[in-house]
Amino acid sequence: MLAILRSLPETVPLFLYLKRQKAAIKFINNGEHYYSTASVPPDEINEPMCLSRYLQTKIKAVGPISVADYMKEVLTNPLSGYYMHRDVIGESGDFITSPELGQLFGELLSTYIFLWQKVGSPIPLQLVEMGPGHGSLAKDVLRVFERFGAVHELSLHLIEVSPHLSEIQAESLCVKSARHTPTNMQPHYQVGTTASNIPVFWYDRVKDIPRQFSCFLAHEFFDALPIHKFQRTDNGWREVLIDLDPTDPEKFRYVLSRSPTPACKFFIKPDEVRDHVEVSPETGVILEHLATRLEEDGGFALFADYGHDGTKTDTFRAFQNHKLHDPLVEPGSSDLPADVDFSFLRSCTADKLLTFGPVTQRDFLLRMGIDLRLEMLLLQCDEKQKESLRTGYHMMVDQDKMGERFKMFSLFPSVLKEHLTRFPVSGFSGS
Ligand SMILES: C[S@@+](CC[C@H](N)C(=O)[O-])C[C@H]1O[C@@H](n2cnc3c(N)ncnc32)[C@H](O)[C@@H]1O
Repeated sequence: MLAILRSLPETVPLFLYLKRQKAAIKFINNGEHYYSTASVPPDEINEPMCLSRYLQTKIKAVGPISVADYMKEVLTNPLSGYYMHRDVIGESGDFITSPELGQLFGELLSTYIFLWQKVGSPIPLQLVEMGPGHGSLAKDVLRVFERFGAVHELSLHLIEVSPHLSEIQAESLCVKSARHTPTNMQPHYQVGTTASNIPVFWYDRVKDIPRQFSCFLAHEFFDALPIHKFQRTDNGWREVLIDLDPTDPEKFRYVLSRSPTPACKFFIKPDEVRDHVEVSPETGVILEHLATRLEEDGGFALFADYGHDGTKTDTFRAFQNHKLHDPLVEPGSSDLPADVDFSFLRSCTADKLLTFGPVTQRDFLLRMGIDLRLEMLLLQCDEKQKESLRTGYHMMVDQDKMGERFKMFSLFPSVLKEHLTRFPVSGFSGS
């Protein structure tokens, strides 16, 4: 690992669950309405549409909606969802992320991906990133692969729901790119090529990616997936729903379902000890799919996100201009994340995969050698670059910043158990 770090380029500017899970997945798929970026005519995209009005009309028509429905509409409604038609990431947006804080984060994750060599460097290799934002992490990872000449039969596959962000990604990663209507044979909606001839494909759904050995990355992706919220009451579990405020029907408010909803029955574990629980069934569906793929086609996954190990309760919140905001005020104007429950991810894959973590981002980056890499970079840059590298380092590593709140989690096929016991996975153990 140290050899890899040293030779990097210089500064560049459950379910007993199984039965219940199957039922749960069916439940989700029945209600599934994955949005396709290709399905909205461009002239409609620019039409102003008030998401608040749309949600008010929907609630008037069908009654209170689940938090998952609300989140899905607010974040990814094709016409006016939060992510769909503007850039929300960075200083001028609503939140900043580790890959945007300079090259350090992407480089250290790349050294993790070089675990690929530990399992025999299988080719073709597919790098898959879910929710790539500006494409900065993918760009840093590709740069490391190029540096090591490991681009033979390498391809990049991006899962991105936002037409706007997918354009930004194409501009940042590719020398040429084109959009087209997905078909059964070609399920991607955009294709491009990097300067070093690496093909890049964009999809709406993970299940459309070709079945081959893949390394899956996700940074702040799962926290954007819709959650159902449940509250324990004297009468048993109830689902938290979103309704209109009877005193002002332009405002939204939380209510509890009168009786247990189907989601309460599917998603609350019989031995649950918490009084308030959040569950993301979409995450469960993706993890089920990943588990099958990693087991049958080979590969591994590394996720980084706000999260906990099945201990937290109410984490649903909103961010606007880098500050906390009320999730029910001005829907569509702020990001709506919820912490990832890594114990849920583990339970969805327990029969097929080995899991590592969650460990704090701080511990992970320190074990991966961030201090050494920082030192090397500081030797090569001017004062302004040094300042920016140090600021980024502290944001990512300090306990009162992203260092503790963000967690890293990794998945490998169970068949590698013995191998990974002999050659432990870097970043997740040791000092
Ligand atoms: C919080 S941003 C993180 C961006 C990037 N990974 C980073 O850390 O800078 C979430 C990303 O996931 C995408 N996204 C959100 N929901 C999605 C969904 N249901 N399917 C695919 N992409 C989604 C957003 O458009 C955005 O690119």
